[in-house]
Amino acid sequence: MTQTSEWYEKLKSKTAAECERTGSMLPFAPIGGRYKDLMIPGGIYWWCNGFWPGLLWQMYGATRDELYREAAQASGERLSPALEHPEKLDHDVGFLYLLSAVAAYRLTGSEAGRQQGIAAAEILADRFHETGAYIQAWNSGVWEEGDKSGMMIADTMMNLSLLFWASEETGEERYGRIAKAHADTALQNILREDGSANHIAVLDPQTGEFLEAPAGQGYAPGSSWSRGQSWILYGFTNAYRHTKEERYLAAAKRSAHYCISALSDRNWLPAVDFRAPEDDGRFDASAGAIIASGLLELADVVPEPEQGLYRNAARKILAALEEKFVNWDPETDGIVYGASNSYHNDRLAGMSLIYGDYFFTEAVLKCSGKNTEVW
Ligand code: GLY
Repeated sequence: MTQTSEWYEKLKSKTAAECERTGSMLPFAPIGGRYKDLMIPGGIYWWCNGFWPGLLWQMYGATRDELYREAAQASGERLSPALEHPEKLDHDVGFLYLLSAVAAYRLTGSEAGRQQGIAAAEILADRFHETGAYIQAWNSGVWEEGDKSGMMIADTMMNLSLLFWASEETGEERYGRIAKAHADTALQNILREDGSANHIAVLDPQTGEFLEAPAGQGYAPGSSWSRGQSWILYGFTNAYRHTKEERYLAAAKRSAHYCISALSDRNWLPAVDFRAPEDDGRFDASAGAIIASGLLELADVVPEPEQGLYRNAARKILAALEEKFVNWDPETDGIVYGASNSYHNDRLAGMSLIYGDYFFTEAVLKCSGKNTEVW
């Protein structure tokens, strides 16, 4: 058996058992090896709630096993009422609805899924500031204090696929225009010359002028939060796939080369921040999984001679994750036990977090050619 087919077989055993136990819950992290429903105070609005239905839709697309479809449908439908409260949703609305509603539409033709996807795209588009040309991150004073009106972040790059999809689906040009405008501002203020990235850029909302780039979820200003890096790599790859604009491909490659260099320097194990002290012992396996899946996506959009670099690096990352962090035991919930929410958060660190498991699943399925395109 090849490594790829071994991963696929283990993934099926693991996720089928998780699905039997977890069903229509919206899990975030296993505690004592077991998922529970909605463990974060954000309730159905929590940005991570799309990843469980998304993982199940990926497994359904690969296997056509009804077990996955029923749980994907049931867990995803629970997010529908959140669309009535856009003030509680944020820039991560793409993670929520691309992986639940839009995935349901793609795989089953669900008209409700299509409508919810378009409603979510409208919410994301409404966050756009024409002055400055950026989609605002977070909401001033909703889950945390402070004025967020001038903030744009790396994470949003990954959510732009919701706008590209809505534009392609409805023929409404506005969604695509906003996605491209935000990507262009991210090229200026988030992606750096050397391929590393800021997590946050603060702009003056009155003029659009760049003000500062604080540390965000990374180690310090000027450092390189690995998950932010992964959103940039994968997000610009998606932007290129949807638009065929060469500047986005160049950005994706710049980011990919930086990530490959940072990871190869540390045995392909993802630090929480690529520019934090080397001996801090902090990892974010979710960043590794996202980078691996992003590299596999990138490999699919470049000419043949360029593909090997990205595919080989992705497999090395997945193998390193498996060796150090993956728990294949079907009796335990959670796959990749090495994810961390952010550099300075010791509580949500070194554990399985649902987005790490989603992207690991997506990447393993890509290796077998069994993934469903959702971005
Ligand atoms: N909001 C996405 C992240 O924390 O990575």
